[in-house]
Amino acid sequence: MSRVVLAGGTPDLIERLRAAQPELAVLPPGRVPTEPVRLFELLPAGDLPPVVVLGPAAPVADVLALAGALDVAWPGISVVLVGEPTPELWPAVMRAGIREVVPPDADVTVLREVVGRAAQVALGRRQALHPVAGQPSAPGRVIAVVSPKGGVGKTTVSTNLAVGLAAVAPQSTVIVDLDVQFGDVASALALQPEYTLPDAVHGRAGEDSMVLKTFLTQHPSGLYAVCGSDSPAAGDTVTADDVSRLLAALAHQFRYVVVDTAPGLSEQTLAALDVASDAVLLSSLDVPGVRGLRKEMDVLGELNLLPTGRHVVMNLADPKQGLDMADVELALGTGVDVVLPRSAAVPASTNAGEPLLLRDLKRDPATRELRRLLERFGVAPAPKSSAFWTRQKAAS
Ligand SMILES: Nc1ncnc2c1ncn2[C@@H]1O[C@H](COP(=O)(O)OP(=O)(O)O)[C@@H](O)[C@H]1O
Ligand SMILES: [Mg+2]
Repeated sequence: MSRVVLAGGTPDLIERLRAAQPELAVLPPGRVPTEPVRLFELLPAGDLPPVVVLGPAAPVADVLALAGALDVAWPGISVVLVGEPTPELWPAVMRAGIREVVPPDADVTVLREVVGRAAQVALGRRQALHPVAGQPSAPGRVIAVVSPKGGVGKTTVSTNLAVGLAAVAPQSTVIVDLDVQFGDVASALALQPEYTLPDAVHGRAGEDSMVLKTFLTQHPSGLYAVCGSDSPAAGDTVTADDVSRLLAALAHQFRYVVVDTAPGLSEQTLAALDVASDAVLLSSLDVPGVRGLRKEMDVLGELNLLPTGRHVVMNLADPKQGLDMADVELALGTGVDVVLPRSAAVPASTNAGEPLLLRDLKRDPATRELRRLLERFGVAPAPKSSAFWTRQKAAS
């Protein structure tokens, strides 16, 4: 791995920098890429240098754009600016997160010191962000949220689960929208993605897990997202193999990978279940929903695609429906783990693009039950027993 990448260097700076740090990669002369993803495209696959040296032969605006973008998305890379910024330029340099500035005529000793300091900061940050980096680490948990039918709360449950997990594992939780044709994770999280699922599986992102991260969208909660494609046709280009590779790569970088899916058993959903550690098996609490879920579970059992972690969730429950939970469990052939009541707070949060758990509505019964679901993944204690569940039990 190159320890240092130089862009916008002059011939004599290249020479001095190489003397200071022999593991140097020099980018071809020309414009400095202004986006990290373009920078990584110019480097050998898998190369993530701790230090990027920019200037003096590069346009200042490009240098500041790249430094600022690296500072936000890649804190594990330090930027060194070679140049003599004017007093007017200093605030912009600082805003771009540039910690080291050296004059263009700095000698080898100074360059060695500066690059060494910058590398130390970068590696320190990497340690803090990924304490296990460099050691073989266990892959993260892949949680697929599935149901035979649409409109029963898959996106609601997956987005809430994801923000809940991101609260305990910020920057280490990602949600993937595998409803390839009509995914609405972006809308449920009020995100405006620059890149979507097809971008994340095709081209460089599909081959290089480090580049992949630049194709993710960040949510203010610390959650990352692979949002659904812009059009059903684009979504259809994503194959089961693409899904397997994407989820495996994400599981190596993130502690939790939450997968929202389309209704039923599409090839993408089956591929997700194949690598999943957990399945949230979801249905509306009504007879057709429960029957459908039973069939789906039977098929998945036959295909040997039911992950070890199983979480059966009944949504849109209403005590007035008159369904006995014991009968439901009998029909399903398994226990029900969480019952989410119908609550007006849910569509309100969907429409606002803010998951319920971020609204922190203490009295909302659906919020309480979503917390119980989170608890199954080792997160935060929830109330011992919700009023709703107690009511259901008392009624049965
Ligand atoms: N427990 C609930 N109470 C009230 N409305 C709900 C509940 N769960 C989901 N909804 C609403 O139902 C609609 C469909 O939910 P969604 O999560 O998009 O389902 P799916 O992803 O399975 O198609 C959304 O408008 C959502 O707000
Ligand atoms: Mg959905």
